Amino acid sequence: MTRKLIVVFGATGNQGGSVVSSLLQNKAYVVRAVTRDPASDKSKALAAKGVEVVAGDLNDPKSLIKAFEGAHAAYGVTDFFAELSTLGANGAMDLEIQQGKNLANAAAATPTLEHYVWSSLPYIKNTTKGTASCPHFDGKAQVDEYIMSHLPDLAKKTTFFWPGYYATNLASTTSLVRQELGKYAWVLPCSPNASAPMAGLTTINVGVFVSAILAKPEITLPSKYVLGSVETLTMKRTLELLEEATGVEMVFVQKDTEDFVAWFPAGPVFGKELALNMNFFELGPGVWSKSGVKVLTKEDLGIKDSQLVSTKQAFEMIDWSPVIKA
Ligand SMILES: NC(=O)c1ccc[n+]([C@@H]2O[C@H](COP(=O)([O-])OP(=O)(O)OC[C@H]3O[C@@H](n4cnc5c(N)ncnc54)[C@H](OP(=O)(O)O)[C@@H]3O)[C@@H](O)[C@H]2O)c1
Repeated sequence: MTRKLIVVFGATGNQGGSVVSSLLQNKAYVVRAVTRDPASDKSKALAAKGVEVVAGDLNDPKSLIKAFEGAHAAYGVTDFFAELSTLGANGAMDLEIQQGKNLANAAAATPTLEHYVWSSLPYIKNTTKGTASCPHFDGKAQVDEYIMSHLPDLAKKTTFFWPGYYATNLASTTSLVRQELGKYAWVLPCSPNASAPMAGLTTINVGVFVSAILAKPEITLPSKYVLGSVETLTMKRTLELLEEATGVEMVFVQKDTEDFVAWFPAGPVFGKELALNMNFFELGPGVWSKSGVKVLTKEDLGIKDSQLVSTKQAFEMIDWSPVIKA
């Protein structure tokens, strides 16, 4: 049997790492991981698991062409937040769009490629008819539009994947803030009834979704959309699950957007981006849509809940010690 080469970008990170872990369980695949630094500890750990680790930079188109060489399929992901503090939101969005186009151009130039999975997000400016926008969503969605309008042959081979809200987002001192008497507060610029599709434990679930996408091209191609969500939850329910999982009392604190941005511990640029994100969570899960498109779910892909890590299970598995102190 000839094994199929799957090229994974972001393989040292949450999403790509999850895809690599899942693909390694399937003997039909050979996995190539792309990183800027093949000598890093994370890269070495991948190599030790039998992954071919190669150098590639999303800002260097030539390196991407080489990284794609001989690929049967590929997973493409960009990291908006890497340059947010240096470039600001508009600059980070422009860079993310260019990186997404660089990936798509390299994918389109790979004659062996049969399936490209692009990690995108909904076009909030469009789905909300201009009432909301969010650079780390809208930039990725503009790459979808580029693929559809400029690279029609690649479009036929592309599945657009929308990962939901990571459970690990809460595992940070910028999310959970200690209150007196051992209580913790989740401070957000939205109401507790705001809701979103949840990714559960990204490091497991993204890989489960991407493996299912690659295994079922008859339903995930051409140009289909897949929502990587285990369940839809309100922020209030999310916090209750965290309370149940940790045994620590949690309170929800709602700030208005301006106060939130001024207060946010990681600084106003991050605070503003998060506020734009949480603001449209107020509009509910319907925002995670695209006009005229049926977005496929775990059920459509035949993924069983037992294969996924739910939000509560993720909260039980996360090490909270850096955030929650006794
Ligand atoms: N947090 C959420 O709830 C959520 C939900 C949906 C989508 N997202 C999106 O997820 C994305 C981040 O993905 P993640 O969580 O997997 O990121 P992550 O864990 O922070 O890892 C980032 C990955 O990107 C790679 N990378 C960064 N810049 C690169 C470059 N110039 N060239 C090549 N590789 C580069 C890094 O590889 P090396 O350092 O090894 O080169 C690393 O593997 C963001 O764009 C965010 O908008 C987040």
